[in-house]
Amino acid sequence: MYLPASGLPAAWDVDRAWAAIRAVDADVRAHPPAACVFDLAPDALRRVLPGAPLRPDQVRILPDGRWRSTTPLSEPVAQLFDLHLPLACCPPGRRLVIAHLGQSLDGRIAPAEGCSAGLTGPQNYDHMHRLRALVDAVVVGAATVRADDPQLTVRRVPGRHPARVVIDTDARLDGRFRMLADGAAPVVYCRANDTAPNPHLPAHVVQLAVRRGTGGLDLADLLDALAALGWSRVLVEGGGVTVSRFLAQGCLDRLQITVAPVLLGAGHLGIDLPEGLSQARRRPPEKRYLQGCDVLFDLDVSGERA
Ligand SMILES: NC(=O)c1ccc[n+]([C@@H]2O[C@H](COP(=O)([O-])OP(=O)(O)OC[C@H]3O[C@@H](n4cnc5c(N)ncnc54)[C@H](OP(=O)(O)O)[C@@H]3O)[C@@H](O)[C@H]2O)c1
Repeated sequence: MYLPASGLPAAWDVDRAWAAIRAVDADVRAHPPAACVFDLAPDALRRVLPGAPLRPDQVRILPDGRWRSTTPLSEPVAQLFDLHLPLACCPPGRRLVIAHLGQSLDGRIAPAEGCSAGLTGPQNYDHMHRLRALVDAVVVGAATVRADDPQLTVRRVPGRHPARVVIDTDARLDGRFRMLADGAAPVVYCRANDTAPNPHLPAHVVQLAVRRGTGGLDLADLLDALAALGWSRVLVEGGGVTVSRFLAQGCLDRLQITVAPVLLGAGHLGIDLPEGLSQARRRPPEKRYLQGCDVLFDLDVSGERA
């Protein structure tokens, strides 16, 4: 149940909700949940048996991250729980792959000349940093590294940095980009297994040789390689080519698209699959969230492929 902020119990706000989600994440990573559920108060987290009565101002969290509250919560707090608890509750070793793209009303993720910064608003950037803080690894394509020079670290909210993974099928990138050079978190560089190791990268960058797939790399092979490193929660952060390939190869569980009220008229496309999807259909509207002026659509795409 959502209420406007004026109807809020003083106890829950976005910062407390985020701290609580991080506490669930830490607990699940330390002791994967068995049959118990969590009860969350603004300042405490405890495990209880599923039938235990729920006290006022507490939030009951089921093992899959769905939640309910006996007290109405504000829309921003409810949105945080909806979008992030399923990720925080995902036990170590269980694969969960989420992609996110921010796009214009006309389906573009960046102007033709490159950088995507500022397309969506600050609330969506906060959301992205929260996703990063909950995953093991963030994946981007080589063209995104060239255009945006992203760091892929967590800076806008409290949280730990994920490992950074770049896909560069034909090993063309040089080592001058920030995520390759800054040493802020582990970096994995993925190239096709029929190319030679890239000699331009700093020594701390781990190079993975991955099978080729339909367009680019075989992404199931890549995800297996990341899982072997202990990274099973994965965020694919762009660009459009990379997210489209994950979708086409049936390697995504969730796809989040945030639409900004902007017309670019030209530029890089978001999802672009020449053959379409095998199960193209209208999506149910219930998973949609306002983030400032932007609207985020959260889609279950497990089972989809081109
Ligand atoms: N709005 C958002 O959410 C968002 C997020 C991320 C990026 N972006 C924008 O997306 C754009 C990039 O996305 P994208 O869809 O073009 O590509 P991408 O998904 O970042 O990269 C995918 C592939 O692009 C190919 N590629 C193209 N130019 C390359 C180059 N100069 N060096 C190496 N590989 C190159 C490679 O293909 P092969 O594998 O075939 O070699 C690479 O694997 C940028 O403008 C960036 O600003 C937007």
